Amino acid sequence: VDDDAFIDAISPWLGDNDGPVGARLTLAIRQAITTGQLSPGSRIPPERVLAAALHVSRPTVSGVIDELRGCGLVSSRQGSGSWISGTGRRNEPTVPFIEMIQASGRIDLAAAAAPDAGGLPPMRVETADLLMAEPANGLNPTGLWPLREVVARRASTFVTGVTGDNVIVTSGAHQALALVVAALAPGGSTVLVEDTTYGGLVDIIRANGCHPVGVDRDDDGVDPEVLADLLRRHKPILTILVASVHSPTGTISSPRRCAEIADVLENAPTVVVLDETYADLEFSPSGRLLSGALADRAIRVGSLSKTLWTGLRTGWIIAPVDTCATITRRRWQQFDLGPSVASQLLALQALDGIDARLVLRRRTLQQKAVWVRDALAAELPDWAPARADGGLAMWIGLPGDGARLAGEAATRGVAVLPGSACRADNAPTNHIRVCFDRPIDVLEAAIERLSDRRSRG
Ligand SMILES: Cc1ncc(COP(=O)(O)O)c(C=O)c1O
Repeated sequence: VDDDAFIDAISPWLGDNDGPVGARLTLAIRQAITTGQLSPGSRIPPERVLAAALHVSRPTVSGVIDELRGCGLVSSRQGSGSWISGTGRRNEPTVPFIEMIQASGRIDLAAAAAPDAGGLPPMRVETADLLMAEPANGLNPTGLWPLREVVARRASTFVTGVTGDNVIVTSGAHQALALVVAALAPGGSTVLVEDTTYGGLVDIIRANGCHPVGVDRDDDGVDPEVLADLLRRHKPILTILVASVHSPTGTISSPRRCAEIADVLENAPTVVVLDETYADLEFSPSGRLLSGALADRAIRVGSLSKTLWTGLRTGWIIAPVDTCATITRRRWQQFDLGPSVASQLLALQALDGIDARLVLRRRTLQQKAVWVRDALAAELPDWAPARADGGLAMWIGLPGDGARLAGEAATRGVAVLPGSACRADNAPTNHIRVCFDRPIDVLEAAIERLSDRRSRG
């Protein structure tokens, strides 16, 4: 790429937020690398050219290049300048998934999360409530017993024999997955995930020094034959599936497919983990068929982030008691001393009467999914949205590369997630993910900007 092409590739990612300019520039270059717009070998314009084009100081540019060199994404040689030397793929240093969903002042359709805390009931926690905590000093790595009991009781609708002793409260499903991987997968081991999957899970596996291997999916979910083959070939210590409503596709596997997958996993020498973060958002609740079929064969991960509000940072692990003990020991060594008592008390209040609120939330989300599908059919008819069976995001097939479209959308002021962020090896894909849990006027403005891009293009 020449200097102009380099600047064109990073400009959409610079956004128009007020953060420190150096940090924004670093992030923009990293995003252009991860999305494949800048590939290894791409020459970085001389510092003075970049500084002039972006209206920043030369020391700022030089600090950014130093930082990128430090994480292995850039190389430099005296007399030859600097060039991109990493892809952010596979087990190379990579852009954290969470950076991929930073909207930087654009309309945010990238983060799969409720836009605000408006879906929560009125709640309060007072010092008198904290004085009731067990133990009284507030240090409890597995969480408050009443909350663990509620989680166990809700789980008993799809798996028998779960009590509060099987539950660990975590700071969201992300930490739950991180705890499971850290406690059960030694560095260097292989972990099977779906291709595609939750991008943060790929980060967790890599950061733990393990290797994510992706299992192909079709429209109905994981391919059971590929799964069986990869289990045989890789002997993965863990197999982690996003069960019920899948992320990022928003689809639910058919009863037949769930039975086939359960059959393959039943006697496989791997620990099965089901990430059920979206399970309470099935538009027509199916009874969590895979979870039910695997019964006590699986560890489960859940969260209030998608059903209620990400800011609660409340999730959980459901596992056999001895596995809970292993995870808890690891938690104390590596992660934290346990969840916040105050947020657990809020979570307990939020869970009171949640089923009625969920009926409403599912209905609203389904209406928004239909609205977006209709709007896309009218405005962007060559986009092919996957059927939305639940959740709050739509997986959309495109005529061209998803990362390229995400870059173009960014210049139009709309943040969408490139599908490559959800692949085990971050390989390119002709997909994006779009969150539809937004007010209709926001969705309308976003689609107008996206289709305006098209008519001009
Ligand atoms: C499938 C899946 N698992 C886990 C998480 C992490 O959720 P939490 O906010 O509970 O940490 C997400 C969030 O995007 C997700 O989509």
